[in-house]
Amino acid sequence: MRTLLLVAGARPNFMKLAPLLRLLRATPPTAEGHQAVRAVFVHTGQHYDHALSGNFLQQLHMPLPDYHLAVGSGSHAEQTAAAMVAFERVCLAERPHLVVVVGDVNSTLACTLAAAKLGVPVAHVEAGLRSFDRRMPEEVNRVATDALSELLFVTEQSGVDNLMAEGKRPEQVHLVGNVMIDTLVEQLALLEQPPPANQPHYPGMPRPGASPPCPGPYAVITLHRPSNVDQPVRLQQIVQALAQLARRLPVFFPMHPRTRRQLEGQALLPMLAAAGVRLLPPLGYAEFLTLWKDAALVLTDSGGLQEETTYLGVPCLTLRENTERPVTLTHGTNRLVPGGAADILAQALAVLESGPVVGHTPPPWWDGRTAPRIVQHLLAWEP
Ligand code: UD1
Repeated sequence: MRTLLLVAGARPNFMKLAPLLRLLRATPPTAEGHQAVRAVFVHTGQHYDHALSGNFLQQLHMPLPDYHLAVGSGSHAEQTAAAMVAFERVCLAERPHLVVVVGDVNSTLACTLAAAKLGVPVAHVEAGLRSFDRRMPEEVNRVATDALSELLFVTEQSGVDNLMAEGKRPEQVHLVGNVMIDTLVEQLALLEQPPPANQPHYPGMPRPGASPPCPGPYAVITLHRPSNVDQPVRLQQIVQALAQLARRLPVFFPMHPRTRRQLEGQALLPMLAAAGVRLLPPLGYAEFLTLWKDAALVLTDSGGLQEETTYLGVPCLTLRENTERPVTLTHGTNRLVPGGAADILAQALAVLESGPVVGHTPPPWWDGRTAPRIVQHLLAWEP
């Protein structure tokens, strides 16, 4: 029997891991009646608040982690080092045949490094994406993780091209589509079902469900990148644009803890509140999906949301200079907005004037069936 360690650490990892873990655990026994694979779930604890972690495990119907490494917050070196030390111990205890990592957070790189140093092969899900901007910590994580990974599962053609240019062998690289879309498809169907009666919900927000949170067009914003929220001038520009936008239509703003801290530190929260921006805590997957799926406009710096809005055809303005997900620009509804308050407001108003997107189709292989393709490769893989 083979042992696979599947790693998640931070919020955007859970929706990528959930379908893989479920399928691997449902793999039928071999002809001889042996369990083919043991899928061990390792949570590094990079995200630890219920809103960023436990809530996602519950809503995505994930099992409790077999190992919780309680790494927590810190500088990049502290967080990466703590995850490496703790994950090395898990590898030594479990002697896995393969480690599966997803995405581009610090936990992704840390566990890849620890495994590679022990000679354990690594499979990277969401490999090959490149912003070509090394100022982004995620870009460093992506480049280093892919350099050390044996198996590379890619969401879009640009990822294949990047990996080939970096000298990977074609047999290592598999264009399988986007496993996060598997979770999206599944959760959209769940929204159609009546919610449990005792489900908690946030003030000002409807319970998760198929109906929009308010009548008429509205916008949703998420922000958490250091390049936006840790730069005072940049953050002020974004806040100015949001305050003006909120005069035209309702703007919902679920806030990452990092963002809330910076807005509070710069005394910008009162300005947003006075403009009528609806300030919310970080939302669970279902609440957030309820919010953005019917939005007239999403503004974000998230990687995942660029892809999710592309899948559903929701207009998205990405408040960054570049994206590592170019298919969202060429096939999707995403547009980059690198400029200041005037640029953000002008582009937002242009989107609202042009109305809903018509005739939209998702990128190739984003069909809700990526996890079975990945699992097939994982089970067939020979060291
Ligand atoms: C991390 C990822 C980023 C991902 C994002 C999703 C890296 C380098 N960054 O950024 O790629 O898009 O997660 O949210 O891995 N905090 C809490 N509660 C928590 C976790 C963090 O309050 O459960 C606060 C702490 O003050 C912490 C700060 O958020 O210092 C930043 O957390 P961290 O995990 O370092 O990075 P994120 O900004 O969340």
